[in-house]
Amino acid sequence: MSAPLAAAELFSLRGRTALVTGASAGLGARFATVLAQAGATVYAAARRLDRLKELADSDARIHPVACDVSRDEDRTRLVETARAATGHVDILVNNAAASGETRAEDESPDAFADVLGVNLTAPFHLARLVAETPAGDGAPPRSVINVSSILGLVTAAPLGGASYSASKAGLIGLTRELAGQWGPHGTRVNALAPGWFRTEMTADLFGDERSARWVERNTLLRRGGDGHELDGALLFLASDASSYCTGQILTVDGGWTAR
Ligand SMILES: NC(=O)c1ccc[n+]([C@@H]2O[C@H](COP(=O)([O-])OP(=O)(O)OC[C@H]3O[C@@H](n4cnc5c(N)ncnc54)[C@H](OP(=O)(O)O)[C@@H]3O)[C@@H](O)[C@H]2O)c1
Repeated sequence: MSAPLAAAELFSLRGRTALVTGASAGLGARFATVLAQAGATVYAAARRLDRLKELADSDARIHPVACDVSRDEDRTRLVETARAATGHVDILVNNAAASGETRAEDESPDAFADVLGVNLTAPFHLARLVAETPAGDGAPPRSVINVSSILGLVTAAPLGGASYSASKAGLIGLTRELAGQWGPHGTRVNALAPGWFRTEMTADLFGDERSARWVERNTLLRRGGDGHELDGALLFLASDASSYCTGQILTVDGGWTAR
């Protein structure tokens, strides 16, 4: 059972502990900031510690943790750091990602495996680490948010990216499966599927006039997204506003996949 909340409290994350991977840049930095603004204590993880420290300087609720999500010992240290300091981890945002080669013919088996390691295997292991301790009586509800992509739902053609698209589609399957396994324990698992947003990952795309026009032409709202336009979807999935929502894919893409 869940008690109704006043509208102003619906998105509050006061008393919650959140982990955000890939928080040194782009969408992840924004996600860490938004969760902290909603009241969560946030452990911001990535390999570039200097960037994380800058982010932490902007909000005392953000704590930097150097972490390569493809390394088992780093993932364990991240979860243990947060648990040692606050006693619990309530929100996991699996956001870190790598993009692979564009042409399938250029992507070696090792390169393909590396992308899947960061984008799919690491989120699975992090989710397991977070969910391994039972959410005790009175503990905050637990929410895992896997950052997938519209490219987990539809083709990237005429752009390419076999490992990236496979990893993002895999993340959607993983989301449904973990939601099924962990629903009885009250752990919710959902995916966020963004469309095109300007970040380091998409710098070449938006930097090229023809590609940028292609994004505009094929998006129903005729533009790429601004980072802050994922704030509402993130807060919905992280908070009690989505207490009866699990195994779902929340697409925020200006209408790209509605065509
Ligand atoms: N931008 C878009 O249009 C778009 C669209 C759909 C989905 N997405 C998804 O949204 C998420 C964020 O994308 P973005 O555009 O913000 O990407 P980005 O600007 O390239 O940032 C990627 C982040 O992941 C981190 N990262 C990469 N490999 C890592 C590793 N091995 N261990 C730890 N951290 C690692 C990077 O930090 P370090 O280099 O410091 O480790 C960086 O903070 C990704 O899951 C992406 O697939 C983005």
